[in-house]
Amino acid sequence: MPETAHLRPSGGIVILDFGAQYAQLIARRVRELQVFSLILPCTVSVEEIRALAPAGIILSGGPSSVYDAEAPYCDPAVLRMGLPVLGICYGLQWIAHTLGGEVHPAESREFGPADLEVFDSSALFAGLPTRQKIWMSHGDHVVRLPEGFRQTGKTPKALAAVEDLARRIFAVQFHPEVRHTEHGRDILRNFVFNICGARPNWTRAGFVAETTEAIRERIGGEQAICALSGGVDSAVAATLVHRAIGDRLTNVFVDTGLLRLNEFEETMNLLERRMGLNVIGVRAGERFLGRLRGIDDPEEKRRRIGNEFIEIFAEQARELERRSGHRVGYLVQGTLYPDVIESISVRGPSATIKTHHNVGGLPAVMPFELVEPLRDLFKDEVREVGRELGLPEEMLTKHPFPGPGLAVRVLGEVTEEKLEAVRQADAIVIEEIRRAGLYSALWQAFAVLLPARSVGVMGDARSYGLTIAVRAVTSEDAMTADWARLPADVLGRISARIVNETRSVSRVVYDISSKPPATIEWE
Ligand code: XMP
Repeated sequence: MPETAHLRPSGGIVILDFGAQYAQLIARRVRELQVFSLILPCTVSVEEIRALAPAGIILSGGPSSVYDAEAPYCDPAVLRMGLPVLGICYGLQWIAHTLGGEVHPAESREFGPADLEVFDSSALFAGLPTRQKIWMSHGDHVVRLPEGFRQTGKTPKALAAVEDLARRIFAVQFHPEVRHTEHGRDILRNFVFNICGARPNWTRAGFVAETTEAIRERIGGEQAICALSGGVDSAVAATLVHRAIGDRLTNVFVDTGLLRLNEFEETMNLLERRMGLNVIGVRAGERFLGRLRGIDDPEEKRRRIGNEFIEIFAEQARELERRSGHRVGYLVQGTLYPDVIESISVRGPSATIKTHHNVGGLPAVMPFELVEPLRDLFKDEVREVGRELGLPEEMLTKHPFPGPGLAVRVLGEVTEEKLEAVRQADAIVIEEIRRAGLYSALWQAFAVLLPARSVGVMGDARSYGLTIAVRAVTSEDAMTADWARLPADVLGRISARIVNETRSVSRVVYDISSKPPATIEWE
């Protein structure tokens, strides 16, 4: 059981996962209503659900058809627990199929906006207009309802909402969790508060107070250590633990030589002076560069950086134990809920492949107990908690930055000269994007140094300089991303400044690929 399990308030909403992305989005929407929600694989037992004492259950959508050989399913006893149930999309089809209704396999898919007409009164749509825009995404559709059910809403093409009031089972064919469904949030609010009778039990102040207390109890008088990455997750995790145990938490921040311009100094300053954290800064650029010499394979670069990092961290932990004369028993990590979902859902259908491991992959080789105070939170909730803790906005709104740093933004072998060029170019990209007021609208923006020289003219002479690719993307969660339509004048300024100010670069290109099929990073 995760160590924060006992903090999970009862009276929340359990979401049974029939397919990853939908379940996460539903969980976020419920939490936006300040009600705790938890995603469980659809295969979970009724006893496990009951142990959490939820106020209601939501069955998520998912990409399957109930006729698929491997179609995900729950224990039908979930529908007999006496708790209100809301089925969404596949959830509706599974309920209909399981309770004796009839689902027809898809002849074509219905995807996109549709007009919902609510033609019978329903607690789910209480207080809402009888006609509203919704978002559909389904193949199969229900053609005959199980006994006890009645239809309350339809679109011109399909049945859209059904319910069995006696059993308190509600279901919709559309997706209330997506923003395109005009009153989606209100529909979920009706379900959560009016039908399930949940109360707001999930606020950031409450989270901070309870988590701090739980950490204090758990770590007691012992020592903990934390690896700061310069990013928001580890900073918030460390600040939370610092609140609980003060300077018995030691943080290690390593300058890998692969950080952005001035990032080491600025982060040290921010966390140490402004936040009062106890931070050991380790300058280790040369060690990393040495390990990377002659290596051009991206995965090998990642592996070497990871290993070097672990070595440095272990040295620091041993040194700390030697100096203090006390064992360090706990390792603080900024693991987030999406990572946890990825690892629990392998039992359910939403298994996804995790390709990236942050430099935080430490515990396997070290005798620490893990403290992961953010493992129940989504990224935006982490930012909220950070705000509650008084972390500066510049830290909270910082773009994500890969653990191996600029090493994966210098394609091929990493040298000091190339790092210098990409570091300068990166600083220009960020400065111009900030100046244009676009920073917070982007998921990430950065420069990549390509392993290609190209001909240019500088003054009267021909040059043969480096090539920089500028990358800027919008995204919700990095699983998919779109290239940002930056204004041409911003791109123009970025290009001119990079060529003028770095000297070694003679050509700048803009990356217009989306993910998929490209990835955000180039390596
Ligand atoms: P990709 O390139 O796969 O990146 O579209 C998705 C997100 O992950 C970040 N990323 C990494 N983060 N270690 C990390 O900690 C890595 O090796 C790594 N590679 C990519 C990337 O910046 C983006 O936010």
